[in-house]
Amino acid sequence: MSDSAAGQIDHVLDETRLFPPAAEFTEKAVISSQEQYEDLYRRALEDRDGFWKEQALEHLHWFEPFGDVCQWEAPHAKWFVGGKTNASYNCVDRNIDQGRGDKVAIIWEGEPGDTRTLTYNELKVEVCKCAAALKELGIGQGDVVSIYMPMTPELAIAMLACARIGAIHSVIFAGFSAESIADRNQDAEAKLVITSDGLHRRGKVLPLKKTVDEALEKSPSVQTCLVLKRVGNDAPMTEGRDVWWHDVVDKQSGDLPAEPLDSETTLFILYTSGSTGKPKGIRHTTAGYNLWAKRTFDWVFDHRDDDIYWCTADCGWITGHSYIVYGPLTAGATCLMYEGAPNFPAEDRFWELVEKYKVTILYTAPTAIRAFIKWGDEHVEKHDLSSLRLLGSVGEGINPEAWMWYHEKIGGGRCPIVDTWWQTETGGLMMSPLPGITPTKPGSCTRPLPGVSPAIIDESGSAVEGENGGMLCIDQPWPGMLRGVWGDDERFVDTYWATVPGKYLTGDNARRDSDGYYWIMGRIDDVINVSGHRLSTIEVESALVSHDAVAEAAVVGRPDDIKGQAICAFVTVTTADPGDELRQELRQHVRKQIGALAQPDDIRFAASVPKTRSGKIMRRLLRDIAAGREAAGDTSTLEDYSVLAKLREEGS
Ligand code: PRX
Repeated sequence: MSDSAAGQIDHVLDETRLFPPAAEFTEKAVISSQEQYEDLYRRALEDRDGFWKEQALEHLHWFEPFGDVCQWEAPHAKWFVGGKTNASYNCVDRNIDQGRGDKVAIIWEGEPGDTRTLTYNELKVEVCKCAAALKELGIGQGDVVSIYMPMTPELAIAMLACARIGAIHSVIFAGFSAESIADRNQDAEAKLVITSDGLHRRGKVLPLKKTVDEALEKSPSVQTCLVLKRVGNDAPMTEGRDVWWHDVVDKQSGDLPAEPLDSETTLFILYTSGSTGKPKGIRHTTAGYNLWAKRTFDWVFDHRDDDIYWCTADCGWITGHSYIVYGPLTAGATCLMYEGAPNFPAEDRFWELVEKYKVTILYTAPTAIRAFIKWGDEHVEKHDLSSLRLLGSVGEGINPEAWMWYHEKIGGGRCPIVDTWWQTETGGLMMSPLPGITPTKPGSCTRPLPGVSPAIIDESGSAVEGENGGMLCIDQPWPGMLRGVWGDDERFVDTYWATVPGKYLTGDNARRDSDGYYWIMGRIDDVINVSGHRLSTIEVESALVSHDAVAEAAVVGRPDDIKGQAICAFVTVTTADPGDELRQELRQHVRKQIGALAQPDDIRFAASVPKTRSGKIMRRLLRDIAAGREAAGDTSTLEDYSVLAKLREEGS
């Protein structure tokens, strides 16, 4: 279990407060009674095929009908077999077919304050133009397109354009380094990269195109780079490889029919960190993912036609994929999209946006909430937030203190909070309160959604109950489940299906209380969660070790008030008298290797790191030291006790 989780559990174990939904919310809710939920839940598991057939026919457009609803040969699933649909059609054209062409799909605000609004009709024109341009640039079905862009409408447009022609998008968060982009390009054999000249962040301009250029030196498969002019800097353009968006996209026709695609066509890959090695490309396919994103959005965000919905995530993460693009757009929602930082030009930017656009549903992350608490209530109190009716949280457990602040200060005590537990691999929400019916407990993601069958398993593979919990697994297939790891089926099987045969291993620990509520207790592997972003400690260690001065590195998470977990690196070096200069250099080095989000917060130089007699780094001890705790538990396998004493001295 991670340390922040350990700290949190002390709090949440004592948590007995219960917040029932307000009657006026329940009255109009999409799911408005416990019986309705129980019925959906039972049907989805007892009559899986019948239930999902009905859902798929009602909520997606089909060019050609499907046969079998689910073919399941663990761990490989196929959903809506043989059917033909298109996620771009479902997000755009289907809304127009249903009379929502003039409804606003995206309200966008850039960090400098520029704005743009796109109706579903207008979005379709843009998506068609971009799709036609991609075709002209030689992209077709099955080709991988990397997208490394700021949070502009063109990012969503590019994703939907790929989906329209059956190309596979691989969105790379615009904070990753050139090395990380190159790794992803190579692994996916990307043919084209879409980027922009730069992005606005906290009043500065970051030169994205320059970073991409560096990555392209190590991306032999990439033939073309499509560049959006966002900031107007003098981005370098390479003749024969780089083309401007305004030159190739704007001239296209705004009417390109969506390609009918097999249900199991890969829609996208998204790289995420696991416990070992390089990030893996999680593969999601068209129909099942699209349906899962749509229905979970309807159920949990209780979407109504007049809502203004704002998910503050970046499209570089799964939350942006499922709950900025595919879920809400398939549901015909009006989505606010914001490009910049929450504290630019001041710490009230989010609340200014909520007030200005009369946001009704806000979906954000605990790390942001903790930052707002730190910045002070005055920034919130300046603004009228009475338009809000529902709040969501994602990315990590929300500690009860942050939950209460969110509830009272942002939600005015009237808005339900949906604490949504899910993962890149699950495609969409798995456990969450249903805002019209679920009494919430701060810190619990409450109960599984229809179609989700969780199991808590101990090391012997048996189901367990009780406060200690166990490994959280999912024991039935669901439409939004990952279909594989790009190019590496063995890794897919080993990582997710080998530990508990036949069940999907989430990598989280969890317990279920006597009301059937689930409490996520942190990771069981060496994955840390920094500001809601998943990082593998081994990835950061590899980056450190690739520096000439580093002999050995051990990285652990330690509790952090804002980030949830901070990165603490214990480093043994080859140079004498290492000091702050080297610390700074190593931070920069990791930043260059992975990206700013992986920069260690603490670097501690050590003569050696504690190891077992068989040579394994004892991370548990390092976690205790990083957190400033007495090393607890069994140290009998420790090779050299003096190492511990030295490390403690270092930290004091
Ligand atoms: O450990 C869980 C934590 O984030 C992990 C998934 O990370 P990622 O794939 O990057 O997706 C983040 C956005 C869905 C999970 O294995 N996590 C996510 N949401 C919660 C959470 N932990 C506790 N409560 C949550 N609501």
